[in-house]
Amino acid sequence: MSPQRALITGGSGFIGSHLVDRLIREGFEITVVDNLSAGDKEHLDSRASFHQLDICDPALKEVLEAERPDIVFHTAAQASVAKSVADPKTDATINVLGTLNLLSICSNLGIKRFIYSSTGGALYGNPEEIPCPEIHPIRPVSPYGASKYAAEVYIRAFAESSGLKYTILRYSNVYGPRQSPFGAAGVIAIFAQRMLTNKKVTIFGNGDQKRDFVYISDVVEANLKAVEQKENEEYNIGVGEATSLNTIVSLLAKSTGYTLAPTHEAAREGDVFKIALDNKKAKRLLGWSPKVDLSDGIDLTVDYFKNKLATNHAS
Ligand SMILES: NC(=O)c1ccc[n+]([C@@H]2O[C@H](COP(=O)([O-])OP(=O)(O)OC[C@H]3O[C@@H](n4cnc5c(N)ncnc54)[C@H](O)[C@@H]3O)[C@@H](O)[C@H]2O)c1
Repeated sequence: MSPQRALITGGSGFIGSHLVDRLIREGFEITVVDNLSAGDKEHLDSRASFHQLDICDPALKEVLEAERPDIVFHTAAQASVAKSVADPKTDATINVLGTLNLLSICSNLGIKRFIYSSTGGALYGNPEEIPCPEIHPIRPVSPYGASKYAAEVYIRAFAESSGLKYTILRYSNVYGPRQSPFGAAGVIAIFAQRMLTNKKVTIFGNGDQKRDFVYISDVVEANLKAVEQKENEEYNIGVGEATSLNTIVSLLAKSTGYTLAPTHEAAREGDVFKIALDNKKAKRLLGWSPKVDLSDGIDLTVDYFKNKLATNHAS
């Protein structure tokens, strides 16, 4: 049997680059489209065929026609809530129009499955029940949540009109090695890096805000499980437990040996106060469950940043 060909948009990013590594190990032939606006080419396996291109660019059509992927993993996005609040138009251009460009090309190419990296953390607003199931009303409180959901709606519309098969994965807060410690999102990466360099850490709000933190390898595994799906479905991908930022700070301080007290600033616009995702549907129908415990995942992440700092220091 010839190997499956996969296209990964955003394949130089945090989640995309881990997905590329795993798919290569599983024998897939990989094409990556990324404009490197946030990704890092150093994280991308050189065996992947790489196209530095914006997903909004009409030239995306030629790439897909030449590479003919069986499966498309769409991870490219403007992925920061804070940036979406500051510039909602750019957020919508990438997350809605970019997705639409990709979908119109995919619907004419006989793609076997379109797997979309959506968000669970930013769709449901401040949920009425925790953990929050997929059937909860959609009430985004940020332009990012709105644009990620708009893309979901377009995916369903294309499935109706062109028979495109899809799986939508709604992640909670993903963390792990390679997440940018300098972005506006990714609190574990940001705090790990700052604690390891003995810098001040700032919590927006009182630190009681709670999130569902899922480790990167578990998210990659969910994408692999999605390849085998027959139905068109959406799944929450999270651990199902809400952990406060104060707990995250304590776990990170223990793992890094940090002793300074965090400082506090006003809570940020667009952030949900408390959420965890109900993952029962993913367990039942996707055959997925999270494997990496939070304190182990934090230690793995801290080790990564420690090694990176040591390498940078040595060179
Ligand atoms: N990290 C999380 O906690 C989280 C949670 C929920 C959902 N998601 C979703 O998962 C996906 C990946 O997120 P991530 O954390 O890896 O973010 P990331 O910023 O590390 O990766 C996104 C990648 O997309 C690329 N990209 C951005 N705009 C592009 C464009 N216009 N054209 C081509 N490439 C472009 C960037 O260069 C980057 O490599 C996103 O769709 C995000 O919305 C992430």
